Amino acid sequence: MTKLSVNINKIATIRNARGGNAPDLLQVAKDCELYGADGITVHPRPDERHIRRSDVPALRAILTTEFNIEGYPSKEFIDLVLRVKPHQVTLVPDKPHQLTSNHGWDTIAEQGFLRDVLNDIRAAGIRSSIFIDADIHMAEYAAKAGADRVELYTGPYAELYPLDAQKAIAPFVRTAEQVRSLGIGLNAGHDLSLRNLRFFSENIPWVDEVSIGHALICDALYMGLSATIEAYKNCLK
Ligand code: PXP
Repeated sequence: MTKLSVNINKIATIRNARGGNAPDLLQVAKDCELYGADGITVHPRPDERHIRRSDVPALRAILTTEFNIEGYPSKEFIDLVLRVKPHQVTLVPDKPHQLTSNHGWDTIAEQGFLRDVLNDIRAAGIRSSIFIDADIHMAEYAAKAGADRVELYTGPYAELYPLDAQKAIAPFVRTAEQVRSLGIGLNAGHDLSLRNLRFFSENIPWVDEVSIGHALICDALYMGLSATIEAYKNCLK
C-alpha cells in the first residue's frame, strides 16, 4: 500500500507566527504518527520561515516512522542531512525564497551536479529521491544520476483534475510506468487532496509514498487531525 508522509511545514508556520511553541511541532509530529501517518516530511528553507534547522535533529530523535527531509541541496542543507541522517532525502530545485516547489529538476542539464550530491547521500546510507515533472526523460536521467526514487510533481495533475481527470492523469501514468521499468522507487506530491488523491492512487497503485501538507492541514481545521489522516489513508487503500 502507498505510504502517507505528512508534511508538517504548516504547523511550523503557525508556531512561528507568535514566537512561542504553540502548536508544539514535535507533539504534532508524534500525534500524526499515532493517528496513522507512515512518515513525516519537512522542508527546512534557508530563511527558516517554517521549519527551523534546530527542528530537524529534534524530530529525528523522537520519530518512530520514516523521516523525509526535502530541500535544495545547498552545502548547508547537505551538511544538515548528513548529520541528522533521515530515512530519505528529497532533492528539490527551489530558489531560496521560492513560495513553494513548482517544478522538477532538469535531470539532463543538472546530471553532473545531481550525481555528485547523490553519491554523498548514498555514502551516508540515506535513501534519495529527486523531484521531477511527469516526463519520461527526466525519470530516465534521474535513474542515471543514481537516484533511488523520484517524486513526481503533482501540481499540474491537481490543477487539471477537476476539468479533465483522464487528461490530467495520463502523463503521470506514462512516467510512473517508465519509473517502474527503470527499477527505481516512486513518490508523488504537491497539491494532492481529498478530492484528487483516490483517483491518482487507483491509477498508479504502485506509488511507494505520497507526501501531503497544505490540503491535509487545511482539512484538519474542520475534521481534526486524526479523522483527516484516516480519510487520506482511506484514499490510498
Ligand atoms: N513534495 C515537495 C517536494 C514539496 O516541496 C511539497 C511542499 O512542501 C510537497 C510535496 C507537499 O505539497 P503540499 O503542501 O501541496 O501537499
